[in-house]
Amino acid sequence: MLKNTASTYGWVAIALHWLMAVAIFGMFGLGVWMVELTYYDAWYHRAPELHKSIGMLLLILLVLRLLWRLWNVRPQLMGLWWEKIVALGVHRLHYLLMFTVIITGYLIPTAEGTGIDVFGWFTIPATFSFDKQQADLIGKVHWLSAWGLMGLALLHSSAALKHHLIDKDVTLTRMLGLPRKTAKGENL
Ligand code: HEM
Ligand code: HEM
Repeated sequence: MLKNTASTYGWVAIALHWLMAVAIFGMFGLGVWMVELTYYDAWYHRAPELHKSIGMLLLILLVLRLLWRLWNVRPQLMGLWWEKIVALGVHRLHYLLMFTVIITGYLIPTAEGTGIDVFGWFTIPATFSFDKQQADLIGKVHWLSAWGLMGLALLHSSAALKHHLIDKDVTLTRMLGLPRKTAKGENL
């Protein structure tokens, strides 16, 4: 099924979750690598172009994901009461950090008034301009939120593995779209 139910994620939420997770990890690696390139590297111009284009597609996916999330029921979280509160907080923080990293990413190259050309398909126009000091601050927030997102994703995936290996519940398998039985044999 496409939509979520009270007990599991639908295919749209699953596809958006994993597509975006892979893209975000890739974007992090690309970002760390590209800022070290020098003018004489073949990828000096191409890597930032790629980073910006994928980033803008991620923004579109993120908006669609948030709307889908708000329009759907949220499958019941598993674990102890405090684990559920932490999980919900972590999920929300993920959204906040994803928006922060993408919006600051958009503001870095557009600060001087140039729009972002997305793979030559369309251009996202610049909206705000900033002086050098403000642009530096935006760059710092981009860096911080990118690292924050990686740290949170590490915590989040460790929790998913803990649910799977220790609690033996369906938290991970239902996000993978796998058979609807828990490791204890209970039906989902
Ligand atoms: C999930 C999304 C993103 C992640 C994880 C990410 C990650 C990173 C990282 C780790 C860096 C290196 C920072 C440093 O070491 O100074 C970086 C740099 C950069 N990112 Fe992103 N980024 C994302 C989205 C975007 C978007 C949407 C744009 C623009 C449309 C963008 C534009 C830039 C630019 C221009 C730099 C170079 C900054 C500089 O030269 O200091 N990023 N990004
Ligand atoms: C940057 C990478 C990631 C981000 C931004 C992210 C974000 C999220 C968010 C926001 C949710 C809540 C559901 C939704 O609104 O879509 C979620 C759920 C989930 N994520 Fe991730 N995630 C990432 C990586 C991972 C990884 C690597 C794993 C596993 C190893 C994982 C496993 C799960 C599971 C199992 C759920 C369902 C949790 C539940 O139902 O209680 N995620 N993730």
